[in-house]
Amino acid sequence: MSFWSGQQYQSPGGFDPQLPRTLFLLLLSVASARGVTQNPKDCVAFQSEKGSSISCHPPAELPSSLPADTFHLVLELFNLTQLPPDILKGASKLQELHLSSNRLESLAAEFLLPAPQLRVLDLTRNALTRLPPGLFQASAALETVVLKENQLEVLEASWLHGLKALGFLDLSGNRLRKLPAGLLANFTLLRTLDLGGNQLETLPPDLLRGPLRLQRLHLEGNRLQVLGKELLEPQPDLRYLFLNDNKLAKVAAGAFRGLRQLDMLDLSNNSLASVPEGLWAPLAQPGRDMQDGFDISGNPWICDQKLNDLYRWLEATKDKMFSQNATRCAGPEAVKGQTLLAVAGSQ
Ligand SMILES: *[C@@H]1O[C@H](CO)[C@@H](O)[C@H](O)[C@H]1NC(C)=O
Ligand SMILES: *[C@@H]1O[C@H](CO)[C@@H](O)[C@H](O)[C@H]1NC(C)=O
Ligand SMILES: *[C@@H]1O[C@H](CO)[C@@H](O)[C@H](O)[C@H]1NC(C)=O
Ligand SMILES: *[C@@H]1O[C@H](CO)[C@@H](O)[C@H](O)[C@H]1NC(C)=O
Repeated sequence: MSFWSGQQYQSPGGFDPQLPRTLFLLLLSVASARGVTQNPKDCVAFQSEKGSSISCHPPAELPSSLPADTFHLVLELFNLTQLPPDILKGASKLQELHLSSNRLESLAAEFLLPAPQLRVLDLTRNALTRLPPGLFQASAALETVVLKENQLEVLEASWLHGLKALGFLDLSGNRLRKLPAGLLANFTLLRTLDLGGNQLETLPPDLLRGPLRLQRLHLEGNRLQVLGKELLEPQPDLRYLFLNDNKLAKVAAGAFRGLRQLDMLDLSNNSLASVPEGLWAPLAQPGRDMQDGFDISGNPWICDQKLNDLYRWLEATKDKMFSQNATRCAGPEAVKGQTLLAVAGSQ
């Protein structure tokens, strides 16, 4: 949904991939305003009290070695299918590594060993189909892992072993069909999980056991048909829940039972004709009033008395409801085409 797209990286403790580049362009324009000329074959380097920040984009050449104080490295848009071995050699202070928009097909298991202080790894838009087991064996400080828009069809729990500080995991835009049970069991600090835009038909019911305080869950754009009652239960602090653009036809009665803090719920563009009584009761409690809104549009609602509970809830929370005009009844015949709110108001 467009009204909150782009918020994806704005979560607390999240990660904004645009920021370093914006900063870099700003600094670059300051540099050129001062008449500093730049050889296009060179990477751009900046010094700060934190160390060296190195940015390389074509037509620059890849650096053959890095300053020992490099804390931020960008190697983007090179279409590399392999990274040069030893590319991180000597960069023991490295904290952020941005490798997006290459064509990396695989990574060496030893690749991250020289950079034990790494906090951010961005591999957006590459061609990875797997990760080598052991990749993160020295990555205990790594907080943000972005694997968005790669070609992962499966993910094995062992590929992520070694991550101890993981707070943000983005696996969106891959081809994941299923996930292993226990995948997140060790990631107690995880705050944001993005699985949007994959091909998931089901999820292991225990998927969210492990993280202690998940805040943001993206499951939009998959093929989910059922939301069971166990999935969300371990995450009472969840604030943003994206389930839109799936094939959900069934939501279990207790599915939202444990949610005490939800600020935003997107169930739009699914196959919901009805929902069980009591589903909504835990949401929008006084004091926690779904402040960023909810969307249940684009579903084939059958507006009979089985939705009475939903009508009551809508009456109470309609000022938080998005896409009101697109939230319509598909039946029964007498009310077909009417908005749910109109039907709710006439009850
Ligand atoms: C990378 O590939 C794209 C698309 O084929 C092309 O437009 C671009 O020039 C390539 N970049 C380099 C550095 O080869
Ligand atoms: C959790 O971590 C332990 C110790 O590192 C490891 O043995 C176990 O396999 C991990 N579990 C999962 C599901 O990754
Ligand atoms: C609904 O979701 C499907 C599946 O993700 C998507 O292809 C389609 O564009 C969505 N339709 C609308 C109107 O958003
Ligand atoms: C509501 O949607 C209908 C079509 O579904 C459209 O004709 C109408 O203009 C919309 N009204 C508003 C206020 O957006």
